[in-house]
Amino acid sequence: MHTSFFRAAGSCRRILGLGCGLLFAGASLADNGAADYRHHTMEAIGGHMEAIVDILKQKVPHQAHMGLHADAIAEMAAIADTLFPAGSEGGDALPAIWEQPEEFAKRLQAFKEAAAGFRQTVSEGGEVGAAVQNLGGACKGCHDDFVDGH
Ligand code: HEC
Repeated sequence: MHTSFFRAAGSCRRILGLGCGLLFAGASLADNGAADYRHHTMEAIGGHMEAIVDILKQKVPHQAHMGLHADAIAEMAAIADTLFPAGSEGGDALPAIWEQPEEFAKRLQAFKEAAAGFRQTVSEGGEVGAAVQNLGGACKGCHDDFVDGH
């Protein structure tokens, strides 16, 4: 039920954008608050990342927004370790997160460092391309082993 909800909401989002996600929001409320919150926070991180890529690809002339997105990801990376309390298993989070806590903690730490590094590079006007690749590597470094369907 839970999985099919995310699948339905996922394809829905692709077709209709946010409005459809809101339509589904009620259905997930009673389920597992911590897992929902984690998923929503991760989606927010994903949104900032996609916006960064849009800017880098010069789809929009919003270089001035880069710092905002970098700050947001760094702030969320800093609280990412609070998103996985015991009992919050579910969503796209694989059981390995709770079965291999030390390995998972390493991925969280790598994410925190990459996000802080990206924020610093942006604020110093440095080479953003390399820093964003490093950040993307930290996302992938966790998703490959700890997120369903990756
Ligand atoms: C330490 C592990 C970890 C890192 C690092 C991480 N994520 Fe995630 N991410 C997860 C987990 C676990 C989920 C599944 C959450 C759920 O459904 O409960 C997830 C879910 C997502 C989702 C929702 C879609 C899906 O597959 O469930 C997006 C989008 C996302 N992450 C983007 C990112 C981006 C972009 C980064 C890097 C800037 C990132 N994540 C870094 C663990 C991580």
